[in-house]
Amino acid sequence: MPLKACLAGATGWAGSELARGIAASADLALVAAVSRRHAGQSLGEALGDAAIATPVFASAAEALATPCDVFVEYTHPDTAKANVLAALAHGAHVVVGTSGLTDEDYAQIDAVARERGRGVLACSNFALTAVLLIKFAEMAAKILPQWEIIDYADAGKPDAPSGTVRELAMRMGRQHQPQLEVPLEQTRGMRESRGATLAGSQVHAVRLPGFVLGAEAIFGLPDQTLTIRHNAGSSAKPYVDGALLAIRKVSGLIGLHRGLDAVLEL
Ligand SMILES: NC(=O)c1ccc[n+]([C@@H]2O[C@H](COP(=O)([O-])OP(=O)(O)OC[C@H]3O[C@@H](n4cnc5c(N)ncnc54)[C@H](OP(=O)(O)O)[C@@H]3O)[C@@H](O)[C@H]2O)c1
Repeated sequence: MPLKACLAGATGWAGSELARGIAASADLALVAAVSRRHAGQSLGEALGDAAIATPVFASAAEALATPCDVFVEYTHPDTAKANVLAALAHGAHVVVGTSGLTDEDYAQIDAVARERGRGVLACSNFALTAVLLIKFAEMAAKILPQWEIIDYADAGKPDAPSGTVRELAMRMGRQHQPQLEVPLEQTRGMRESRGATLAGSQVHAVRLPGFVLGAEAIFGLPDQTLTIRHNAGSSAKPYVDGALLAIRKVSGLIGLHRGLDAVLEL
């Protein structure tokens, strides 16, 4: 029996590419989709692909009336938490691709998922090279005392830092807090030029045309540096394979897990 998935945000930039990926996977069935503008249509009509007969609903609550094994959240930070909690209440496991949920949101989601015996896999970036950046940076942070992070994105990206960089800083900060030789408050000149402090890391966000989404962890030791960098281009294809893997694996988890490496054998 194919695993039944419901996809919220199925007509979006990332969600539409994932919808095509699910539809092309013999072991998965896309049983319901969420989009306010295309509610009442088939997803195939919305995406210009007649082969996708999935019905589109205006809200997660309506879509969840169709039973599913896995609910995928790919909409907007304002609605993501409510959608995830609704899916858990319906007994579905959940994959979260939407970025911008807070640590408090995740703590609440974790508590509900554990209570219900369901898995939630949240990954701010499903691209394999981003997943590896986070994993490798976390490994390096175990043994290197000092690092900083650079967040690259298109000039029009309104939020900063990116979800990818939030996850990167959180995972590195779990190893230890990076050392600063000059405390920030003792910075001469402009304190802001040292960046924002996120989970103990100094983060510098660059917003310029020419970038799409990238993140860089820079480690320094006397006379040596290590740079680990992920860059993505303008299509949403890099995010499909990781999201499909998350959909296939999330039912083996209980509670909230952050990062695709929770289900990768690394
Ligand atoms: N994890 C990853 O690898 C990854 C990759 C790319 C993007 N993302 C994140 O995924 C999220 C979606 O990104 P995107 O670029 O695909 O966005 P987008 O193009 O704006 O698409 C949003 C989708 O959600 C639907 N939607 C349903 N309820 C909504 C609501 N209340 N507000 C806004 N949209 C709603 C939209 O359809 P209607 O407007 O018709 O409702 C649309 O289908 C963002 O948080 C983004 O940062 C994550």
